[in-house]
Amino acid sequence: MKILGIETSCDETSAAVIEGISSDNQPELKLLSNIIASQTDIHARFGGVVPEVASRRHVELIIPTIQEALDKAELTLDDIDCIGVINRPGLIGALIVGVAAAKTISFASNIPLVAVHHLEAHIYANWLTGNKIEFPAVCLVVSGGHSDLIYMTGHGQYEILARTRDDAAGECFDKCARSMGLGYPGGPEIDKLAKQGNPHSVQFPRAKVGDTLDFSFSGLKTAVIRYVEGFAGKPPLPDLAASFQAAVVDVLVDHTFKAAVDKGVKQVMMAGGVAANSGLQSAIKERGEELGIAVSAPPPVLCTDNAAMAAVAAYFARQRGESSDLDLDSYASEPLGVRQ
Ligand code: KG4
Ligand code: ZN
Repeated sequence: MKILGIETSCDETSAAVIEGISSDNQPELKLLSNIIASQTDIHARFGGVVPEVASRRHVELIIPTIQEALDKAELTLDDIDCIGVINRPGLIGALIVGVAAAKTISFASNIPLVAVHHLEAHIYANWLTGNKIEFPAVCLVVSGGHSDLIYMTGHGQYEILARTRDDAAGECFDKCARSMGLGYPGGPEIDKLAKQGNPHSVQFPRAKVGDTLDFSFSGLKTAVIRYVEGFAGKPPLPDLAASFQAAVVDVLVDHTFKAAVDKGVKQVMMAGGVAANSGLQSAIKERGEELGIAVSAPPPVLCTDNAAMAAVAAYFARQRGESSDLDLDSYASEPLGVRQ
């Protein structure tokens, strides 16, 4: 089965093709193309994504991006068995562009359509790593808009164990990077700088929210901003980046493995843009080895927004018999697990 994935929820216009070959419970998935037309340069000068600008750019890029994904896979629409499109949650004007394109192609070429939740897509990037994923599993989903711990007992089965009470981890990376005078998006900039710094040089807070596993990053953000403002000259950025990153990583790793141990799972997955962070990836893999819990982490290009993850999630949704109608809508916010 060949699936065309489409993703336009934020500032990446992306189209991808995967091929899924069914076997008993671990299908073979081949990534045939994954085209990501990034708008980062356009938004960087504003220090963040400007929704109206993003929608307009998606309109310009969506058809060439889909065509490029088909060309790279050496296929035409005649070869495609299903279209998986991310329709929730995200910037509404941006989502509408991808959904309109998907519905038009579905109608014109008579190809079944499946709506995909953005976080579900992030999680399903783990099935492109070649790792065997065992259920039940705990997945840490950390992106620009979300920081969730999700318990999965099977495909399409999600229980939210924890979420952030304020800023998402990615938002915290971006805002702290901005206060340090770094470019947008801040996560990759901090990741790079942190490699040269001492993570123990500044003691930043690691917030706890009662006895829950929920996250809170707004105190850390304020602490970093105050630290920068309180410095007479320019603060030592590598040490600051390393200390900040260590504070985020400590909390994410601790909560993820507390959840894994509480639930008695032997599988942890990582997903979302912040999961691309090299410090986070090594810390989670290290803790997993200590505890004898398998860790799956997609490569950075499959952690940040892309359409391959949408195609994989759609593949599994089709296996469960799901499909969407042509009256499919887009939703700015929608919890994971709600079917469209
Ligand atoms: O999943 P994603 O691409 O888009 C959303 O769904 O939000 O995540 C974007 C977030 C941004 O906040 C970006 O700074 C962060 O992921 N990010 C990183 C890294 N790469 C991207 N954060 C830390 N380290 C990275 N290497
Ligand atoms: Zn995302």
